[in-house]
Amino acid sequence: MSSYNERFEFAKEMIITSGQYLLSLKADRTKVEVKQKNDFVTLADKENEAFIISQIKEKFPQDGIFGEESGKSEDSLTGRWVIDPIDGTVNFMHGFPDYTISIAFEDEKGVLTFGLVYCPEQKELFSAFKGEGATLNGKAIHVSQSTDFSRELGLCVYPHRRREALDLYQIRQRRILDKISDLRSVGSAALSLCYVASARCVLYYEMFLGWYDIAAGIIILEEAGGKVTMDREGDYPIHIAASSALIHDTLLEAIDD
Ligand code: IPD
Repeated sequence: MSSYNERFEFAKEMIITSGQYLLSLKADRTKVEVKQKNDFVTLADKENEAFIISQIKEKFPQDGIFGEESGKSEDSLTGRWVIDPIDGTVNFMHGFPDYTISIAFEDEKGVLTFGLVYCPEQKELFSAFKGEGATLNGKAIHVSQSTDFSRELGLCVYPHRRREALDLYQIRQRRILDKISDLRSVGSAALSLCYVASARCVLYYEMFLGWYDIAAGIIILEEAGGKVTMDREGDYPIHIAASSALIHDTLLEAIDD
C-alpha cells in the first residue's frame, strides 16, 4: 500500500468516528462564538478539529496541517492535511442536516491526492483518490451527462458575509438561472461540490470561500468527471464555478461580466 493509500484508508475510518461525535452532540449546539459578522464557530467545530488533528499527529507526526479553526502548521515534506471540521456550521447550529466534515490531502507540491466529505446525518461518505474516480458509500459516481439544461438544478449561494458583492452576484445568479430549471442552496460548500459530482445537480457557484471549505469537494468533483474554475487569491478568498463538464462553458459565460 502506498503511503497516500495508507493515509486515505486511515482518513476514511477517522471521518466516520468524527461524524459519530457530531451526531452525539445533537442536543447541545448552542456554544457559539462569532468569528466575524455572519461567521460562526461552535464548540463542536473546535473539538472536532482537535480530535482529527490529534489522530493525524499520532499516526503521521511529520505531516503538515491546515485546519479551518486552528490555521496552518509549518510546511512539510510529506504533504498536508486540509480540514474543515464542520462545513455548514450554520446548518449544524440550527438543526439542518446538511453539514459535513471535509478532509483533503495535498502532496508536498500542493497537488490534491485524495478527498473525503462525510455527511453524518445522511450517512453519506463521498470520496476520491487521484486517478481512481469518485465514490459515494463505495459506489462509483459520475457527473450528469444531461444536455437538456432546462430540466436541471443548480446550486448558488449569495455572498452572505460580503454583502457589498450582492448586486454583482445577483446579476450573475439571474443569468445562471436563465440557463437551468431552478436553484437551491444547501449551506455546505463541500456538500454542494459532492451534489454536482453525484449528478443531483449540474452546477455550483459561490464567492468568498476558504480553501478548507472546498479542497476535498474539488478532487471528488474532478474525479467524477466535473470541471472547476476558480478565481483565487491564496487560501481566501476563492470564487468557485463548478459543474458537469457539459455545462461548464455555459456557466462561465453566465458569470462573465
Ligand atoms: C461555510 C459553508 C457555506 C458557505 C460559507 C462557508 P463553514 O463553511 O461552506 O456553505 O456558504 O461561505 O464559510 O464556515 O460552515 O465551515
